[in-house]
Amino acid sequence: MPRPSLLITRRLPASVLERLRATYEVTVNPDDRSLGREGLLAALRAYDALSPTITDKLDAEVLQSPGLKTRILANFGVGIEHIDLDAAKRANIVVTNTPDALTDATAELTILLILMVSRRAGEAERAVRAGKWKGWGPTQLLGNDVKGKTLGLVGFGRIAKEAARRARAALGMRIAYYSRNRANAEEELALGAEYHSSLDSLLAHSDVVSLHCPGGAATYHLLNAQAIARMKPTAILINTARGSVVDEEALGTALAQRQIAAAGLDVYEHEPTVPTSLVELENVVLLPHLGSATLETRTAMGMQMADNLDSFFSGKAPPNRVA
Ligand code: 8YV
Repeated sequence: MPRPSLLITRRLPASVLERLRATYEVTVNPDDRSLGREGLLAALRAYDALSPTITDKLDAEVLQSPGLKTRILANFGVGIEHIDLDAAKRANIVVTNTPDALTDATAELTILLILMVSRRAGEAERAVRAGKWKGWGPTQLLGNDVKGKTLGLVGFGRIAKEAARRARAALGMRIAYYSRNRANAEEELALGAEYHSSLDSLLAHSDVVSLHCPGGAATYHLLNAQAIARMKPTAILINTARGSVVDEEALGTALAQRQIAAAGLDVYEHEPTVPTSLVELENVVLLPHLGSATLETRTAMGMQMADNLDSFFSGKAPPNRVA
């Protein structure tokens, strides 16, 4: 039987490619850049399997095109809002993701941003590099303690819970959350997590608001001007989820006018574009979508993706099927 052909749309860690090459006819996009609509369509017509990432937009138009050969989209990553799942289903294409592999790394990055923002680390580092540091001073660059402060999680999935665990254990923070589905009492007790039945209530009671909901239409601009206005003037906003959840223009205005104190962002609505209104501000830490960017995690994501492919091509149900 011929080996299935697999297109990897972006360069992956060497050990992942080595494993995949043992089973599949692997082609890796040599440019390590998004293939674009035409490139993706050509790939869907030529390969049995595709391993896309967040930078590949597989919308209904592409997935409903005639003559597609691809039978599985084994996504490298947990978020799948760049893939139209209904269109994939209609085209008889299976979709899988990598939900567990990046939980720790993304929770860790959430903690990094909470600390960086609270202790003004970005601003301070920029000052040192610019030669603006004139020596120690008792009121220089004062940040805020996080101990005893309330971390309000929007969404309460794997990453949110892991961030809560770390924030509570390592930083001594109190935990609150808002989610469509309330967690069970045991889980709430283990994390000391207080449930808020509305987003407004969570926003009003949190010192640090951290977003952990999926992207897509249901959460588009959930944090708009009105929602941001509910936050405490001393509060900070952290986003390691998806840029589309935040109205960046409204956030820029709120930060510039100090309606809220500060923000830490790892994701943006139109990556890699970061609005100038945010870049110009000192009270925001801006990272380039680093949530899962460790060698260990990107390797684990690749291995989870390979497990899904292996199950699919050996006729078993892929463990992380989402469509
Ligand atoms: C990934 C992510 O690096 O998995 C996700 O949803 O946001 C990132 O951590 C990226 O999406 C890979 O496709």
